[in-house]
Amino acid sequence: MIKHETIDKIFREARIEDVVGEFVTLKKRGVNLLGLCPFHNEKSPSFTVTAAKGIFKCFGCGKGGNAVTFIMEHENYSYPEALKWLAQKYHIEIEEDLDKTIEESKAENKERESLLIALQWAADYFTDNLLNKEEGQNIGLSYFEERGFRNDTIKKFALGYCMDAWHDFADNAIKSGYLPAYLEKAGLIKQKENSQEYFDFFKGRVMFPIQNLAGKVVGFGGRVLQKDAKTAKYLNSPESEVYHKSDVLYGVYQAKKSISQLDNCYLVEGYTDVITLHQSGIENVVASSGTSLTDGQIKLIKRFTENVTVLYDGDSAGIKASLRGIDLLLAGGLNVKVVKFPDGEDPDSYCKKIGDEEFKEYLQKERKDFITFKSKLLLEGNEGDPIARAEVMRNVAASVAKIPDHLKREVYIQECEKTFGFAAEMFAKEIAQVRRNEKIKNDDQQEYAAKPAFTNVQVPLISDKPITDEYIEKDLIRVMFEFGNLSFNDTETVNKYIFRDLKDSEITFELKNIEKCFEYIVTIDAENIEELLIKHPDPEINSLAVDILNAAPIISPHWNSRYEVDIKPREKSYKQDTIKVINLLKIRKVDKILSVLQKDLKSSTTDEEVQNNQMLIMHYKKVIKELCDFSGTVVIK
Ligand code: CTP
Ligand code: MN
Repeated sequence: MIKHETIDKIFREARIEDVVGEFVTLKKRGVNLLGLCPFHNEKSPSFTVTAAKGIFKCFGCGKGGNAVTFIMEHENYSYPEALKWLAQKYHIEIEEDLDKTIEESKAENKERESLLIALQWAADYFTDNLLNKEEGQNIGLSYFEERGFRNDTIKKFALGYCMDAWHDFADNAIKSGYLPAYLEKAGLIKQKENSQEYFDFFKGRVMFPIQNLAGKVVGFGGRVLQKDAKTAKYLNSPESEVYHKSDVLYGVYQAKKSISQLDNCYLVEGYTDVITLHQSGIENVVASSGTSLTDGQIKLIKRFTENVTVLYDGDSAGIKASLRGIDLLLAGGLNVKVVKFPDGEDPDSYCKKIGDEEFKEYLQKERKDFITFKSKLLLEGNEGDPIARAEVMRNVAASVAKIPDHLKREVYIQECEKTFGFAAEMFAKEIAQVRRNEKIKNDDQQEYAAKPAFTNVQVPLISDKPITDEYIEKDLIRVMFEFGNLSFNDTETVNKYIFRDLKDSEITFELKNIEKCFEYIVTIDAENIEELLIKHPDPEINSLAVDILNAAPIISPHWNSRYEVDIKPREKSYKQDTIKVINLLKIRKVDKILSVLQKDLKSSTTDEEVQNNQMLIMHYKKVIKELCDFSGTVVIK
């Protein structure tokens, strides 16, 4: 654990504009700085940095936070990793805390860090073998050269060689002070059964280090060199504390910049495909490395682009088996194009065969949208058969159904009409059916924010939109950090009053991040709530704080202008703000109770039940009216 004093110092010294400035070109615009958002693709800048508050916020994609969050997001670092990065930049010495209570988290961190250090050492060792040792040069390096890999390419991907000896690596690593336990967890060595001896996992293989987004080595792929070897062609490191296979894509560290610049990502299968394409000047390429694609990998791609071009090895049976990947990409909201290579060729072999320039042309020329590709592939040999045609159409419709955005689905439905000659309505119907059966939600249903907070009553509208749960709950947090320390009555501050009142009325939250933030504010008793929230280590909390700070106040000013003759400065109306927002939460709660009662009423069978429910409903309607009157709110329904 890094000491609090150190963390405070880092926050004091870190200038958000410098930190962001390392990755984004910022221009002065009024009191803020403006640039192109590094987290999503945009043509006109909506990414702002407010130096005075030490925060950034993108009005395009919504990301926001402080200097530490920025580094965490941008470099995919953990909290301590981001702090260390900043400490290094500002020449701040890191002091670690030896608190007993956090012994466990320390142990965890220690394991992660120890694994990463061991893996980096191993990568360096294997590279040294390859470039500087006789066996490495003769066997490993000459293999890579035979495959046409240039020296700069070998360096770029930090390729290496593991000696063809039982425990050359194990001996050297242990001699250099690395604990066998960690080396084993990292999948580099294995203990012989019933013996103290260790042997090398990757004996006699050329090594492909697998790096995470930040460039840290998290695992290896090792390729055997003999053509007739009896073992697997590639061996891969096992899952570990630092290597979560489903969240890693081979080559992403080397590719990320190019992917976001070109706004497209080529997806291939193998290590050597990535490397060869890089060497040919195509740098926006990553590999799933032989496993089928996962959601985690798709999220990773989505950080840099929404456009994926899948490059399939030329082997129809293999492609059919991996078509599910396309559906996953579509479900992830990505736009999918496909290129297929001639039989028996993969991107690596075909690029070497026809040369860089022709290969690039081939990619352009052969690129197909997934509908054309899928229908062609599945129809192969059955073109004249109407039943096969209907079958394929259904299969393609099932893919289109996966796309979350309804406008995009619409476009593809038109495309399907052209491809199959069936009417668009038929596809639309089929797709709707699939979505119902598979219970696929629409984008707007997934957005909690869009859900109105009240079903039975209407409180005054804000710019014609219904008040949502998000509006109310965010406004509560805003009141808490703007006015929390002011006195509410003789004995309580605004926050104390809010805690007590919400607890007494058993108010719960709908949004998880708001609840988290609230729970945190309950625990602090300080002057600078706003600052503490902005600097909070949990990105859910600090980005919420930044969000609220940047948003125009949601409910209160509107109410002021509507129900009071003068618009008072916000500070003066803070007690009213407090009451209003609390009352809104209470009204919402009663409103929910009302909904339940109304349902009960409908299903009541006996007179007594009916009467009972009617009475309760009347009672709660009165409660709502009182709450509204009390805070100057009008019930419309
Ligand atoms: N793979 C694996 N284990 C195997 C075979 C393959 O993990 N036994 C993974 C590797 O990541 C490999 C990818 O699947 O890069 C694709 O496999 P394949 O097409 O067989 O290998 P290539 O990448 O073409 O490798 P090479 O050109 O060296 O034969
Ligand atoms: Mn190959």
